[in-house]
Amino acid sequence: MISKSFKANEIANYRLSIAPMMDCTDRHFRVLMRQITKKSLLYTEMIVAQALHYSKNRSKLLDFDEIEHPIAIQLGGDNPKLLAEAAQMAEDWGYDEINLNVGCPSPKVKSGNFGACLMGKPQIVAKCIEAMKNSCKIPITVKHRLGIDNLDSDEYLMQFVDNCSIAGADRFIVHARKAWLNGLNPKENRTIPPLEYERVQKLKNKRPGLIIELNGGINTIKECIQTLKTFDGAMVGRAAYSHPYIWTKIDSMIYGQKEKYLSRSTIIKKIIPFAEKHLENDGRLWHISKHIINLIENIPNAKILRQELSEKCQNKKADISILKKIAQQLEDAGH
Ligand SMILES: Cc1cc2nc3c(=O)[nH]c(=O)nc-3n(C[C@H](O)[C@H](O)[C@H](O)COP(=O)(O)O)c2cc1C
Repeated sequence: MISKSFKANEIANYRLSIAPMMDCTDRHFRVLMRQITKKSLLYTEMIVAQALHYSKNRSKLLDFDEIEHPIAIQLGGDNPKLLAEAAQMAEDWGYDEINLNVGCPSPKVKSGNFGACLMGKPQIVAKCIEAMKNSCKIPITVKHRLGIDNLDSDEYLMQFVDNCSIAGADRFIVHARKAWLNGLNPKENRTIPPLEYERVQKLKNKRPGLIIELNGGINTIKECIQTLKTFDGAMVGRAAYSHPYIWTKIDSMIYGQKEKYLSRSTIIKKIIPFAEKHLENDGRLWHISKHIINLIENIPNAKILRQELSEKCQNKKADISILKKIAQQLEDAGH
């Protein structure tokens, strides 16, 4: 197969990435996650190309902090022109990669004709990828499912991936379950269709030259290491969001870094300058603390500390002293 894609040794290999998740992977969560892993690729929430086109405040949608690198923006859309424009904007803004969402099954996304329903329209996906490739120089990746509805055979999946590859897609992130576009809501579509890693493995075996990452149900660093024996990368979603602290050894165990990982209190202290800046810009402490709260688990008094953080930070006038106090309490308790 002749492909215009980057080959495995030509594109940065992040090995581990933190999945795009709406209402979760905003810039505050990414700054938190960056204290935990310097090396993994972080994704934005999905940003709809059309929304970017019409936005009067693009900074709000696109801004990120330098420390978030390497960072991929996830775009949603089915219009090659708008996606090309968005891709160019993303490159100008300094993103390292662009990912096209072909995996989200939500009714809202489906009614806009993008997300997972695009698995049924491989020609449109190819046009979108081609347009994005022509408008920028950074890698274009695709996150997709095993299939949708009755379009979910191994042959269909391979044809879909081949089409994307010929159009120029540089890497594939396969959420290893199909999606039912009718009858299941997005949450059910992340649990009810079974995970079928062996089907992604089959794809990798048949297309060894393509960069293929596995996503879905990876819950520990050990499982990532296992995944990396077969696949080019592992993408972690819910387990990273809900239990960020269990990932502190990523850089040493996966990337062979020698740096010592940080305690919970040190992580919070490192986030405090970002929180102060956010408050100066009229942001609320809860925007940041709602993510930090998940750091506080598996230690004595976790429930009490979480409750304190939650109650005090949700107050509109909450100031930085609350975070400082929690960090100190954690440090005093040796965490
Ligand atoms: C709250 C939530 C929001 C999500 N939003 C997106 C999204 O915007 N784009 C996307 O491609 N996937 C989205 N996903 C799917 C995840 O990226 C990931 O594919 C899925 O959760 C399976 O991985 P996991 O088992 O490691 O969580 C979302 C998942 C969750 C839980």
